[in-house]
Amino acid sequence: MGSVMSCCADEKVNEGFYGNGGDGTWRIFTYKELQAATNGFSEENKLGEGGFGSVYWGKTNDGLQIAVKKLKAMNSKAEMEFAVEVEVLGRVRHKNLLGLRGYCAGTEQRLIVYDYMPNLSLLSHLHGQFASERRLDWKKRMQIALGSAEGLMYLHHEVTPHIIHRDIKASNVLLDSDFEPLVADFGFAKLIPDGVSHMTTRVKGTLGYLAPEYAMWGKVSDSCDVYSFGILLLELVTGRKPIEKLPGGTKRTVTEWAEPYILNERFRDLVDPRLKGNFDETQLREVIHVAAMCVQSESEKRPTMKEVVNLLKFGRERGGTMRRMRIQSIKYGEDLMAIDQSSEEEEEEEEEEITSKDEILEVEQSNDCGVFGEMEAQRMEDPYVHKRDKKRARNDSNRPRAGAH
Ligand SMILES: Nc1ncnc2c1ncn2[C@@H]1O[C@H](COP(=O)(O)OP(=O)(O)OP(=O)(O)O)[C@@H](O)[C@H]1O
Ligand SMILES: [Mg+2]
Repeated sequence: MGSVMSCCADEKVNEGFYGNGGDGTWRIFTYKELQAATNGFSEENKLGEGGFGSVYWGKTNDGLQIAVKKLKAMNSKAEMEFAVEVEVLGRVRHKNLLGLRGYCAGTEQRLIVYDYMPNLSLLSHLHGQFASERRLDWKKRMQIALGSAEGLMYLHHEVTPHIIHRDIKASNVLLDSDFEPLVADFGFAKLIPDGVSHMTTRVKGTLGYLAPEYAMWGKVSDSCDVYSFGILLLELVTGRKPIEKLPGGTKRTVTEWAEPYILNERFRDLVDPRLKGNFDETQLREVIHVAAMCVQSESEKRPTMKEVVNLLKFGRERGGTMRRMRIQSIKYGEDLMAIDQSSEEEEEEEEEEITSKDEILEVEQSNDCGVFGEMEAQRMEDPYVHKRDKKRARNDSNRPRAGAH
């Protein structure tokens, strides 16, 4: 992919350039072509918005439906994300990973082109515009759990060098017309050289999904993705957000909520009420067992994604022995909960040039802080919150950090 990386800096991109990626070939698009395909990046074509920029639906001249991600602001961090995304996408090919259709890199623009996923993201079904339609029955949820686990297993165990995603969450699991999941967004991904078990890096990711050792010390390894996947499993089963706001204003993580039910083996009480009791009880026990193993605070006790796939496919008999079914819920520090934007109130207009991912700051090495006390991270993104909410949360995040919790 060296050629792709060098193209990013070159305005005169080679329009005839083709490569392998996703389920076929990718190519370089011109800005004009993408502008035409998306009706001039019109609001009506807008599918959603994230830290990188906005995503638009489009149709190419040859009739292909595409999703075009358009960089919001040109700065070094955004450019790095773009380069990492294109670099990683060019290396991977799996039925459960969203492949690259192409990209456009001029002086002023950075755009990435993907296949359009008609069922949008898992987030839109659990907490967004499709939530009331209840299209996710138990079978589909299990299909989504297994498919995303397989995509992650491929990244961790099958591709060389192996890849840590670092931003596993419901909005980054897209759904095709058959509700087959495709893991997306590799802008934060880390390529791990052979023989390296973990690295220390700046913290990126989304509040609610971050493993404690990563949040506190920037220690990144495969098992950070495993932790995030565990949160995703809990979200799939319970229909709850990773962090929810309680009536009194305090915020609670899904692990805090689930912990007593799991300890007391009250598994039925964990299930999303929107399923109206239609679920498989054996599968429920298995999936909660897997989730509980994934969200353990000690990273070395978490299973690998290979073990997770086996457990989800075959259950404990073939996938491994049953460990004690309990979770230790992670409590976020109050200052961090305060910057979670998913439930903030309205304020002024948003400033376009600042993106949520710009606000990710360096983590300082500190041994005397409590869980998440010294962590700074991206706020929980909720695309269904009004734009103005983001400004308020951003202002909050610029406050001096509070002490350890
Ligand atoms: N290929 C696609 N097909 C259909 N919809 C898509 C596609 N890619 C993205 N979307 C929609 O656009 C939304 C925004 O995606 P985007 O990745 O920019 O933001 P995000 O996932 O919410 O946050 P983040 O920037 O942290 O990843 C998604 O939630 C999804 O609904
Ligand atoms: Mg995304």
